[in-house]
Amino acid sequence: MAERIEVLLTEKEVDDRIQAIGEQISRDYAGRQVHLVCVLKGGSFFMCELAKRITVPVSLDFMSVSSYGSDTKSSGVIKIVKDLDESLKDKDVIVVEDIVDSGRTLSYLLKMLNARGPESLALCTLLDKPDRRVVEVNVDYTGFQIPDEFVVGYGLDYDQRYRNLPYIGVVKFDE
Ligand code: IMP
Ligand code: MG
Repeated sequence: MAERIEVLLTEKEVDDRIQAIGEQISRDYAGRQVHLVCVLKGGSFFMCELAKRITVPVSLDFMSVSSYGSDTKSSGVIKIVKDLDESLKDKDVIVVEDIVDSGRTLSYLLKMLNARGPESLALCTLLDKPDRRVVEVNVDYTGFQIPDEFVVGYGLDYDQRYRNLPYIGVVKFDE
């Protein structure tokens, strides 16, 4: 089956929205320093673009998690593959994610990070599929709410491919 990618959000739409979120975060955290926590690999493209548009002091850290259970459905119980380098104690932390789907991964991750004693903990996601939510997650900054379709680009992959697309697309399968 041949695959093709249909554009859902253009590069300009994504960039403009990231600019607006960067400005919003800069206002909300005026006078403070934000510590961005990127969830690899999907969140990396979004985090870099976002960080460039935040005007208060920024520090960065990265973590990588994998979910136990089947490949397609996340169980929510996650394993830390690469942990953060720095402590979160007393920091104003913003977790930067590519997409919130069922919410299982994020709800588990946020509880775990909250136990590390940050001054504050917020969640910023580029994409949100609210129709798919199984576990309640409080999202502080959302780029776009999208319909229940499998998307790629801007860090999101299909079988590890398409992360490098500078826009968000939907994978379509032709006969
Ligand atoms: P959940 O919110 O725990 O269900 O899992 C979210 C994770 O599933 C994301 O961090 C992505 O890695 C992956 N994911 C969910 N929906 C998509 C999609 O449409 N395209 C690519 N990856 C997705
Ligand atoms: Mg992810």
